[in-house]
Amino acid sequence: MTQDELKQLVAAEAAAYVHANVPEGAVIGVGTGTTANCFVDAIASAKSRYRGAVSSSLATTARLEAHGFQVLELNEIESLPVYVDGADEIDAHGAMIKGGGGALTREKIVASVADVFVCIADGSKRVDVLGNFALPIEVVPMARTAIGRRVIALGGVPVLRVNTDGSPFITDNGNEIIDVKALKITYPIALEATVNGWAGVVTVGLFAARGANVCLLGTAGGVERIDYIAR
Ligand code: A5P
Repeated sequence: MTQDELKQLVAAEAAAYVHANVPEGAVIGVGTGTTANCFVDAIASAKSRYRGAVSSSLATTARLEAHGFQVLELNEIESLPVYVDGADEIDAHGAMIKGGGGALTREKIVASVADVFVCIADGSKRVDVLGNFALPIEVVPMARTAIGRRVIALGGVPVLRVNTDGSPFITDNGNEIIDVKALKITYPIALEATVNGWAGVVTVGLFAARGANVCLLGTAGGVERIDYIAR
């Protein structure tokens, strides 16, 4: 199977998971990226079963609305039984690197409210140690250089994310992203806390303190379901 077919496979499995585990009339949280897009498409035919969705990006909002989903503000809802999203890397404990698509801040906010985080990913995303994929950090622009120095002190290589025309990539929240290369993240919870403590950091794309509860991983043999021990 191709990577795209694996994404569609896990997206369909996630739609079935949500149908089986989320009560009718509930609001569902939806992530961002190519795999999350497949999930939106997979769940669209059942949209009348749900009250609506909370979205983690402007791009996902547009896709949900194109399918006729009602998109609700997080401030409007009291609970979110499930959040479904992809990952750039996921380790054996359900800790993830996210933010390759630039939506890490809203993703982390929506995930923080959800009872269950379901990660959907093709098998290439499973790693023993996080960090081969550059770790995104969303920063307030005036702090970019100061945070870059802190990254270098940690042994990482900071690279400002840019668009194809060379201009800085700007997030949905009006900030910039530093992608950190060459970090071997052996203690993701500790690193998440450290980077979160730097002035000017909006969000680090380490989802470790609140990692995935379940991963639906697309492999050559089909969908592998992994349940992580609650932390
Ligand atoms: C978006 O900001 C990211 O966190 C995505 O969830 C992550 O990059 C996975 O994206 P793909 O499903 O496109 O690989």
